[in-house]
Amino acid sequence: MSVLVRACAPSNIALVKYMGKREGNIPENPSLSLTLDALHTVVGVKRVEAAAGWTLQCAGLDAVALERATKHFERVQNAVSELWPSFGLQAVGSAQVSMESHNTFPASSGIASSASSFAAMTLAFLAVLTKDPQLFKAMWSAPEQGRALRRLAARLARQGSGSASRSFDGPWVFWEGEDAHSIQSHLEEVAHFVVLVSRAKKAVSSSEAHQRVKTSPLWAGRPERALERASEIRAALLAGQWNRIAVEVWREMWEMHSLFHTSVEPFSFWEPGSLEVLKEFMPLFADGSPGARNEKTRIPIVTMDAGPNVHVIVPLTEKSMWQEKLRCTFPKYEILKDGQGAGACLLEVSS
Ligand code: DP6
Repeated sequence: MSVLVRACAPSNIALVKYMGKREGNIPENPSLSLTLDALHTVVGVKRVEAAAGWTLQCAGLDAVALERATKHFERVQNAVSELWPSFGLQAVGSAQVSMESHNTFPASSGIASSASSFAAMTLAFLAVLTKDPQLFKAMWSAPEQGRALRRLAARLARQGSGSASRSFDGPWVFWEGEDAHSIQSHLEEVAHFVVLVSRAKKAVSSSEAHQRVKTSPLWAGRPERALERASEIRAALLAGQWNRIAVEVWREMWEMHSLFHTSVEPFSFWEPGSLEVLKEFMPLFADGSPGARNEKTRIPIVTMDAGPNVHVIVPLTEKSMWQEKLRCTFPKYEILKDGQGAGACLLEVSS
C-alpha cells in the first residue's frame, strides 16, 4: 500500500526581522510577519511500506539542501514517534519515502524560500508519517486539535529554518522564543508586490548572516530595539494605523541591512537596482513622523529580506493603481503579485 500527501506552505515577509539567533534557531528578538499566499512551496511525499528501516529520496535537491531535508525528516520522525500517542495518533514504524518540491518563485533571492520549504516539508512529513493520514488531516482542520498541531508543526519547522515557524498562521504572525502565532489586527486587507531586481542566488546564506551581524558595532541594543519595534507595530496593527506601520517597517529594513554592511566581514544583498527602487520610495518617508501624516493617504509598506528584491505592501483597494504605478516606474523589472494568506495547508492525502 502507498500513501500520497501534498502540502502547501506560503512564504512570509517579515516587517520586524529575525536576525541574530541562538542554538535551535531561537531568535534574539521577536519578529512579526505577513503571511503570503501565491508565493508558496508545494511538497509532495509518497510513502511505500518497508519491512524495516527508513529511506528518504528527494528529487532535484543539491547536496546541502538534501542534508538539511534529511535531518529535518529525522527530526519530524522522532517527534512523531514520541508525541503521537498524546494526540491519539499512531506513528509509522518504517517506510520508503520519496519527496519532490517546487516553489512558485525564485529560490534564495530574498523571498524566504526556506520558510515556505521547511513549513511545507514539516506538514507533509507529519501527515505521511502518521499511520492514518486521513485522521491527521481531519485533526489539522479541527479548531482545537488543529491549533495544537500547528503549534507543534511551527516549532519543528523552526528547527529546520527559523522563519518557517511563521508560515502556519496568518495573515499577521508574531514569533517570540519557541512560539509563533497569528495576532489580532484591524488593518484592512493588503496586496503584496515584489519588485524583482534580481533572480540570482544569494552569496551569503541567512544562517551565515545571523552569525555575522553580531560582529557589527550596531548589534549593541539591536534585540531591545527590535522588541520595541515589534510592540509598536503590534499596537499599530490592532489600532489599524497603516502609516505608523509603514514608517517603522522602513526603518527596520534599513537597520537590518546596516547590520549586514557594518559586520566585521561586511556583506550586502543590494544590487544597483535595489537602491534605484528604494530611492523612488524615499521621498514618501522624508518627513519622518507618522503622526504628521493624514491616515487617508497611505504610504506603502516597503521592506527587503536577505536579498536584493523589494517588497511593497499596499491596501487591497489600491492594488490596481499600485500595480500600474510599479509597472511604469520600474519597466525593467518583473513585478510579482500576491496577497495575504492563512498559512500552510494539506492539498491532498490519498492512499
Ligand atoms: C532576513 O529563517 O532563513 O529573512 O533559521 O538560519 O534558516 P535560518 O534563517 P532564516 O532567516 C530569515 C532571515 C530574514 C528575516 C526574517 O524572515 O525574519
